[in-house]
Amino acid sequence: MTAAINSLQTVRGFVTARAAVAYLVLIAASLPIWPFGWHLALHVLGAIALIGNAVVMAVLLSAAGFGPRDDRKRTAVRAVNRGDVWFTVPGVLLLLLNGIAMASARYGGFPDFLGVDFIAAGLALLSGTGIVWAARLVPTQLAMQRLTDGPGPVDAAAFRRLLIRWSVWGTIATILPIVAVVVMSAKPELW
Ligand code: HEM
Repeated sequence: MTAAINSLQTVRGFVTARAAVAYLVLIAASLPIWPFGWHLALHVLGAIALIGNAVVMAVLLSAAGFGPRDDRKRTAVRAVNRGDVWFTVPGVLLLLLNGIAMASARYGGFPDFLGVDFIAAGLALLSGTGIVWAARLVPTQLAMQRLTDGPGPVDAAAFRRLLIRWSVWGTIATILPIVAVVVMSAKPELW
């Protein structure tokens, strides 16, 4: 309970009114009233935002986090949390909303499109990514944020423990959408 309250307090520092407006714009742009090609473009841009941000942040935080300098750790942790607000959440919104819009238009509407293998697999992979992100990555990142928030030296051992946990879950959360790109492009018959 205390951990959840701490996390909510830390999140409040990142989710700004500007981000909320940006989310509303993305939702409006993804309403199922636009042409198929528009939804496909936004869907692919969502994949680029999600996977691109995950890879860039993994390199940034690993380089800074396993190094000795506390100022770099502070900058990198802040960038990772901001990156989630500006790339991960928009990426998932774009993938899900435009994926559903396209599936409804071309693959029989809900729930019929769930019977199409590559769509069911895409939904499962995106849900897996979201669960790992929300249940493992975000709490770890927010713990790193609190550890680096104060002015004094960062507890290096505690930071390293969090960073290793973040790297393991981050790798899983990056591989799942990459697999989804392959499945979505090849559209194999899976079962
Ligand atoms: C991490 C999750 C996902 C990723 C990375 C992803 C990626 C992609 C990519 C790269 C394409 C373009 C492939 C092509 O045009 O050949 C695509 C197409 C598509 N995706 Fe996804 N996708 C994901 C999840 C979803 C979900 C959850 C849905 C539906 C609920 C969905 C529905 C579709 C549809 C309907 C198409 C168009 C297929 C067609 O051209 O007929 N995707 N996706």
